[in-house]
Amino acid sequence: MELFIDTADVKEIESAQAMGLLDGVTTNPTLVAKTGRPHREVLEEICELVSGPVSAEVHAVVYDEMMREARELATIAPNIVVKIPLIEEGIRAVRSLSDEGIKTNVTLCFSPLQGMLAAKAGATYISPFVGRLDDIGHDGMALVEQLVDMYERYDFETKVLVASVRSPSHVVEALRLGADVATIPFGVIAKLIHHPLTDAGLARFLEDAKAIPKT
Ligand code: E4P
Repeated sequence: MELFIDTADVKEIESAQAMGLLDGVTTNPTLVAKTGRPHREVLEEICELVSGPVSAEVHAVVYDEMMREARELATIAPNIVVKIPLIEEGIRAVRSLSDEGIKTNVTLCFSPLQGMLAAKAGATYISPFVGRLDDIGHDGMALVEQLVDMYERYDFETKVLVASVRSPSHVVEALRLGADVATIPFGVIAKLIHHPLTDAGLARFLEDAKAIPKT
């Protein structure tokens, strides 16, 4: 499974990249707004740092405007993936962008039927928002399971990108279900590494190492 970071914060991306495990980046308007910087400027900087896929979201909700924005975003770098919301005009745009060879990440997916439409439109990625489903008492990972099974059964090439990840257990479940990608906030990436037994074990080893004769 590929690991993306879900952020527009360049410092967080640099830190995650230093581990050598970062496969890509996803951004959204909320994350870019937090940086206080212009959309294109932030994306240009991210694309200079990261060679894997970088998702950049359109702000339009009407087909013609989405297409214009998507084509403009795609000029930033060859690794840009245009993020399109899962609405009727969006699905239409995904079909056209796919025909033009522009990669897409269909965002705000909350049902298997939405996922089916995105795949039929030729989406490169589908983003089921698991945390937001959990928030309203639904089972976000059940949607991931339905999408993974559906795409396999019908040979859809669209990759399942688990989004709205809130905890390490979402990542464990994504792995168990065979998702293609999980996009993870910086704070959760840090939690993937740490384990109290590792810390305690290491402290003990370091202490015991002091008792080993030097020669
Ligand atoms: C995915 O691409 C989105 O940027 C993101 O995962 C949304 O997560 P949230 O529900 O924590 O805002």
